[in-house]
Amino acid sequence: MTQSADQISNGQLVAELEATRRQLRDAQQMAALGELLGTTTHEFNNILMSVINYAKMGLRHSDEATRTKSLEKILSAGQRAAKITKTVLGAARNRSESPEPTDLATIVGDVMMLLEREMRKYRIAVDCELQPTPPALAVGNQIQQVLINLVINARQAMPEGGRMLVRLQNDPAAKVIELTVRDWGTGIAADKLPHIFDRFFTTKDGPDASGKGGTGLGLAACKEIIDAHGGRIRVESTVGKGTAFVIKLPVAPAAGASNTVAAALPATGVFNAGASQQT
Ligand SMILES: Nc1ncnc2c1ncn2[C@@H]1O[C@H](COP(=O)(O)OP(=O)(O)OP(=O)(O)O)[C@@H](O)[C@H]1O
Ligand SMILES: [Mg+2]
Repeated sequence: MTQSADQISNGQLVAELEATRRQLRDAQQMAALGELLGTTTHEFNNILMSVINYAKMGLRHSDEATRTKSLEKILSAGQRAAKITKTVLGAARNRSESPEPTDLATIVGDVMMLLEREMRKYRIAVDCELQPTPPALAVGNQIQQVLINLVINARQAMPEGGRMLVRLQNDPAAKVIELTVRDWGTGIAADKLPHIFDRFFTTKDGPDASGKGGTGLGLAACKEIIDAHGGRIRVESTVGKGTAFVIKLPVAPAAGASNTVAAALPATGVFNAGASQQT
């Protein structure tokens, strides 16, 4: 009898735990969306400043050369704003919430365009090595969320500025695409490494000057998303040298082929905390 009472309460506990995990996942998604919105708003503000300043300059100077230059600057600022709304926000809005053949290079390009100015502000040079890859079977918005988390973490690991590499590689034999985000920042101490994918594990005091970081949910969300994709995420890190996060995602089956990975891709909240590894 006691056992069955225990079972009931265990069942309730499991259900409650699952509900809490779902809420956390939603919270991280909102945080990532907030970050995206914050960055975009900031970016738009910069563009507007540029438009206003060049318009003033054009009005102040009557010579044709200055006016032409001002109009050119205003035009390119306007074009950049249009590109952001069309590409980044448009893509984010239109992307499906279920896995579909997804071009990862486009997602990398969008994220880098959106974070370009922030990276410049923090003096981070970003190298992108994008090999041609077949489409991955992925939920585009979720992969975007993962990439933003990893890139912001990498940026925060280099408070004095530095270099970062985002690489896309095809592994046809394994039918996976490899996405790597590598930084040459602080690195992660060996005793911390097993915990970085745990929820709420953070070594940051709180959000930085641009309002990012410090909740300790970023990597937990990344791992959850990649696991749900049937992919892998692993980390290599050396203190003082830097860190690399390597993600493997399944290649989308050719059109017409039966889609077994998609069927195995519920938005599950279950993952093995502490499954991080140093390789
Ligand atoms: N590229 C990196 N270099 C060094 N340490 C890192 C890197 N990425 C993650 N970490 C470590 O792992 C911890 C957890 O990262 P995670 O992204 O989950 O949380 P966070 O960045 O602290 O906060 P947030 O949830 O707001 O992103 C970080 O606090 C940091 O100590
Ligand atoms: Mg983070």
